[in-house]
Amino acid sequence: MLIAPALLAACEGQQSALAPAGSDARVLDDLFWVMLVGAVILWLLINGLFFYVTRINRAALSRRFANGLIVVGGVIFPTVVLGALLTYGLSIMPDQRAPGEGLTLRVTGEQWWWRVEYWPDGADAPIIAANEIRLPTGQRSEIVLDSARVIHSFWIPALGGKMDMFPGRESRMSLMPETPGRWRGQCAEFCGASHALMAFDVVAMPLADFTAWLQMQAAPARPPATDAAERGAQIFAREGCGACHAVRGTEARGAVGPDLTHVGSRLSLGAGTLKTTLTDFERWITHTGAIKPEVEMPAYDYLTDTDLSDLAQYLKGLE
Ligand code: CUA
Repeated sequence: MLIAPALLAACEGQQSALAPAGSDARVLDDLFWVMLVGAVILWLLINGLFFYVTRINRAALSRRFANGLIVVGGVIFPTVVLGALLTYGLSIMPDQRAPGEGLTLRVTGEQWWWRVEYWPDGADAPIIAANEIRLPTGQRSEIVLDSARVIHSFWIPALGGKMDMFPGRESRMSLMPETPGRWRGQCAEFCGASHALMAFDVVAMPLADFTAWLQMQAAPARPPATDAAERGAQIFAREGCGACHAVRGTEARGAVGPDLTHVGSRLSLGAGTLKTTLTDFERWITHTGAIKPEVEMPAYDYLTDTDLSDLAQYLKGLE
C-alpha cells in the first residue's frame, strides 16, 4: 500500500482509465474505486479478526459463537456483499451500450491500423478516414466495431471500456466525451506482430468544431500546391500507390490500405507510430517493415532521395 501511490502516479495522462474524460470512463473509474476501497476494508477486517484470535484473545471460541461466525461471516456476509457488487456492476452496463444520438462511426480493425467511417445522421455514404477518431463532446456517439481478419479490441481508456472486434460479427458500443481534449486509444487484444503498434489518436471537439472538421474530411483532396508536391503526385501514381490507397478526387481508389485523402492533417502516421512530418513520411515509406513488423505495405527503399522528398511533400500537403 505504501508503494501503490508511487505506481499510480504514472496512471495519468492521455491513455489512462484513471483519468476519465467521458461519462462511461467516469462510471468505470467509480467502480474501480468502490472495489478497491471495499477490498481494502475487507482485508483490514479479516486480518484484524485473525490478529484478534491469534494474538489478543487466544481462548477457544464457544461452539455457538463459532457456528454463528461461520453462518454470518461465511454465508450471509459474502452473499450480501457479492450480490450488491453484482447488482451495481450490472446496473452500469446498459449505458455503455446505449444507442448514439446523431453520429455513428464504423471502426474496422485491420493489420495493424484502424479503418474509420463516419455516418452522420441521414447520410447515405460514409466519410472515410483512418487511425484517428474525432467525436463531438456532450453527445453520445455510437460506434459499430468490426474486424477484417483477426480479433482486435477497441479501447480508449480515458473515454470508456474496451470492446472486442470480431471478423464477421458486429459489436456495438457508445461513448460520450465530456470535455474537449486529445487522448490515445490502443488495440487491447493480441492480434499479431505489430499489436503493440496499433494505436490511434482520439480528439473530442465541441459540436460546431466537429461539424466543420467533418466537412473538411468529406471534401476531396487538395491539389498539389508546389512543384515538388506535383512531382510527388506523379511518383505516387507511377509507383502504383493508388492500388492500395485512396486519395479522393484523384485516380487513386485503392481500399486495401488507409485512405490518404487528408493524411497530412492527421495527428499521427502508421497508426500512432510516427508523426505526420516530412521526415516521418520519408521514414515510413522507406522502412515500413522495420518500423512496423509484418506490415503489408512494402518498403519503397529504392526511391531516389529527390523522389522520396517529393512524395513526402505531396503526402504532407494532403491536409
Ligand atoms: Cu489489433 Cu492488437
